[in-house]
Amino acid sequence: MKLPVAELHIHLEGTLEPDMIMELAAKNSIELPYESIEDLKARYSFTNLQSFLDLLYTNLIVLRTSEDFQQATVAYLENAQRSGVRHVELFFDPQAHVERGLSLAEVVAGIRAGLAEGEERWGITHKLIACFWRHAPASDALELLQTLVEEKHPIDGIGLDSSEIGFPPSLFAKVYDYAREHGLHVVAHAGEEGPADYIWQALDLLKVERIDHGIRCVEDRTLVRRLVAEQIPLTVCPLSNVRLRAVDSIHAHPLPQMLEMGLNVSVHSDDPAYFGGYMDANIAAAIKPLGLNAAQLAQLARNSFNSSFLDEATKQKYL
Ligand code: ADE
Ligand code: ZN
Repeated sequence: MKLPVAELHIHLEGTLEPDMIMELAAKNSIELPYESIEDLKARYSFTNLQSFLDLLYTNLIVLRTSEDFQQATVAYLENAQRSGVRHVELFFDPQAHVERGLSLAEVVAGIRAGLAEGEERWGITHKLIACFWRHAPASDALELLQTLVEEKHPIDGIGLDSSEIGFPPSLFAKVYDYAREHGLHVVAHAGEEGPADYIWQALDLLKVERIDHGIRCVEDRTLVRRLVAEQIPLTVCPLSNVRLRAVDSIHAHPLPQMLEMGLNVSVHSDDPAYFGGYMDANIAAAIKPLGLNAAQLAQLARNSFNSSFLDEATKQKYL
């Protein structure tokens, strides 16, 4: 049996497997710039975060209808439950879909229908988190967030993703103020490629409850002390960090060091269709090359549930 865990760092758009990309493109008569599925698969070699985002944003245009979002969500949840996931806090990028003319209602309703189906079929509990693009103006993010709230689209929280360097969290302080004032949970990608200073900003200016990635915190001892003292969750994605070259190799990944420092880390899969595997593959990477023992793995699993936005009673059920 796979280790039961909560998946807290997973982008819906990054779960589209090549065969589903081709299938949805054919169904929706969308022309992709690939000659074949082999041609598409040959492009899954990345030099940094941006080189991956370029492919991700090209491929996600195959999602056109509410049913497509539902189908993609259910397909992900089937893979997730096989890999040990019992609870998921799913990210999606609303700007990627609204800018193509889709309505927020069809996107959110499709994902929610998929999450409900996953709970019914496999018992996977869930939250939904809208991530804003840091490469786009913060005013766009604020406007979209206001619409999400005013039209009562069912989201549980917000996040911040896309290109990191050059787009500091400080730009999004007003967006996060608004989200917190309206009772939403708040997380942000920081310290993936960007410097430790972006983690400070996410904590102090965005007042986030979790940091996504955060691996560059190890470069700043004062920051590590703060993260340990406050037990701020860091959602670490080993295979992503290797494939996007945020670390030189899996052997150089700071996860063991982070655990030893007393940081509240848990392991996640980010964009599993692009990075070579789901939760179980990320845990396997932590076991074999990184040499984590059974007690450390159990700690990672406990941290994943404790760091989730589940209510305390449901958390206890999983712990
Ligand atoms: N969007 C999808 N995956 C991402 C990542 N790892 N970093 C930033 N934005 C993303
Ligand atoms: Zn991510």
